[in-house]
Amino acid sequence: MNQEKSKARSEALRILLLEDSPADVELITHTLCGSGRNLIITSVDTRDGFETELRRQAHDLILSDYRLPALEMARKMARGVPFIFVTGTLGEEVAIDTLKQGATDYVLKTRLARLVPAVERALRETEQKRERDQAEESLRASHDQLRALATHLQSVREEERTRIAREVHDELGQALTGLKLDLSWLSGRLRGDSGLQGKIKTMSGQIDATILALRRIATELRPGVLDSLGLAAAIEWQGSDFQERTGIRCEVKIDAAETMPEKSLNTACFRIFQETLTNIIRHANATRVEVGLTQANHELILTVRDNGRGITEKEITHARSIGLIGMKERATQVGGEISFSGRPGRGTTVRLTVPAAPSAIPNQP
Ligand SMILES: Nc1ncnc2c1ncn2[C@@H]1O[C@H](COP(=O)(O)OP(=O)(O)OP(=O)(O)O)[C@@H](O)[C@H]1O
Ligand SMILES: [Mg+2]
Repeated sequence: MNQEKSKARSEALRILLLEDSPADVELITHTLCGSGRNLIITSVDTRDGFETELRRQAHDLILSDYRLPALEMARKMARGVPFIFVTGTLGEEVAIDTLKQGATDYVLKTRLARLVPAVERALRETEQKRERDQAEESLRASHDQLRALATHLQSVREEERTRIAREVHDELGQALTGLKLDLSWLSGRLRGDSGLQGKIKTMSGQIDATILALRRIATELRPGVLDSLGLAAAIEWQGSDFQERTGIRCEVKIDAAETMPEKSLNTACFRIFQETLTNIIRHANATRVEVGLTQANHELILTVRDNGRGITEKEITHARSIGLIGMKERATQVGGEISFSGRPGRGTTVRLTVPAAPSAIPNQP
């Protein structure tokens, strides 16, 4: 780092100086030479000359006699290059104004001793800002990459689940049904043997139970109703399944047209809904859940309200609330928003809003 810095110091510093008094040019140049830096100073004395020089090459620093248009021009044509006014007179108000307009500093010609420290400070600050911008940029880039990766992983996972669900349901289901048919054929052949008949009956019962388990597994992986009948039907189904399994009363009110958005939206809403129900089972200690799905003004709104202990603000914003972060990420992926709110002892409300028009979705998983 130090080596880099000293290397930077030994590199020539390109300074553009706008000054129409030759005596002042000489004085300023002389003062700057006291910095011990390797300098290439280009001096111009008109606005046109200034503009031409800005176009011709890049500079590390601009010094200018008091002329605001020069500052404006430099801000447009040499963004990020430090700009110091070196001027004969400058009232305090005007000075403050120049800084507001984007000048880095100002130095009075009567106090030229300040010039070199002002230049050093401006260069240092510019370098720091550049480093900061770079760090921010790379942070943003890695954040974008992470987000893309999360989206990708989620859609890969969803595809995988759909495929496994289909295979489990179709292939294994058919094989088991085939076995059942064979058993019933055997049963016909062995009519007189009550011992074997009993065995066949047990086997047949086991096959039925296995088919049921297999259907349940396939449905848990990805409910077929989501793809065949859409989101509203899937939410109703999931709500009643939840009630049956947990004993928590679950009321579902649907007020949405069934011409529902396409697959990625359905999947996102459904998975968020499932995650919300899982949280209710695990954390809420609720006895009742109200679910609403409404469609209004090209928006689809899903609300899930429980009457449990109520999520706290700390839990909502906690960095370890990975489940909630995942829900937010899913909502963002389909151009939507999700909010969580809780009242102590009065329950938790999760509200998801997504654009129902697919064209409004920014990037589809
Ligand atoms: N319906 C709810 N009622 C009360 N508290 C809740 C509710 N939902 C979430 N919380 C609180 O918010 C926290 C964060 O939820 P989140 O889903 O992010 O994490 P988790 O469920 O604990 O773990 P997981 O990563 O497995 O989902 C929970 O630990 C819980 O304390
Ligand atoms: Mg959770």
